[in-house]
Amino acid sequence: MDMRVNIAGVEWKNPVTVASGTFGSGEEFSEFVDLNRLGAVTTKGVANVPWSGNPTPRVAEVYGGMMNAIGLQNPGIELFCQRDIPYLKQFDTKIIVNVCGHAPEEYLAVVERLQDEPIDMMEINISCPNVNAGFLAFGQDAGHVEELTAQIKKIAKQPVIMKLTPNVTDITEIAKAAEAGGADAISLINTLTGMKIDINRRTFALANKTGGVSGPAVHPIAVRMVYQAAQAVRIPIIGMGGIATAEDAIEMILAGASAVSVGTANFHDPAVTLKVIDGIGKYMEKYGFETVKDMVGAVR
Ligand SMILES: Cc1cc2nc3c(=O)[nH]c(=O)nc-3n(C[C@H](O)[C@H](O)[C@H](O)COP(=O)(O)O)c2cc1C
Repeated sequence: MDMRVNIAGVEWKNPVTVASGTFGSGEEFSEFVDLNRLGAVTTKGVANVPWSGNPTPRVAEVYGGMMNAIGLQNPGIELFCQRDIPYLKQFDTKIIVNVCGHAPEEYLAVVERLQDEPIDMMEINISCPNVNAGFLAFGQDAGHVEELTAQIKKIAKQPVIMKLTPNVTDITEIAKAAEAGGADAISLINTLTGMKIDINRRTFALANKTGGVSGPAVHPIAVRMVYQAAQAVRIPIIGMGGIATAEDAIEMILAGASAVSVGTANFHDPAVTLKVIDGIGKYMEKYGFETVKDMVGAVR
């Protein structure tokens, strides 16, 4: 049995990474997880300059998951390159840097700064509000997605994963736009926009009013979108959204994902990724799958 997967020319030792923003840059989880065991570590989002994020409260619990409006707080690319990349380089795992921005120039500045850094892939978070398009997220407009992808591809030295937002009417249109712009892979889903009201204080649970819903509650939606995207494009897909067990991850792979990311589940079980990896291995043995690739999209 061989758990290796090849994502856009990069070989991971197994198909499991962590979802951006739920694992820091690995350091706070290293007590619970041997990072050498992960297929890849996906970092929290990083922008060209430090972002302070949204006012608090910015997380809330909801049935079957959580809601967050962190607002992509991050230290900026300079400190990130000095501190987080050297930390991750100590481990035998692939490094995926998640990139955010408010305008194409901001994304491009980060991608350019990463050109000579020893990272393996980059994941572009297009759920960020686009200041030039009335704060609609980049990822909600197929034209913007294709254009931004093409601009990034012109300067990126590492393979580019475009991370799609589920807050759209037709995910296949956006997946195809990323492919047309030259994306090496896509990942999905980011969080679904939600709202929670504190009925006793008669106010919003989050200072931002709305927040992104994640966790098991969103899993069936994520499986459906991964399946639809897999029918629409030929580039590899990294599937995520509510994965909390090996069974959830296997479902995503059978729907068409070549690899998976575990997000919110890390908060209640910091070692969950290891259980997911082991469980996928056991499933492959049980059903006689020699490679992960044989499982990808096996349900049509
Ligand atoms: C607290 C928190 C922070 C997040 N930060 C980011 C981020 O910086 N960049 C990004 O692309 N996605 C971010 N996400 C979205 C996750 O990477 C993931 O796409 C989403 O939560 C669905 O997966 P899950 O249900 O397994 O958490 C964040 C999610 C959470 C819960």
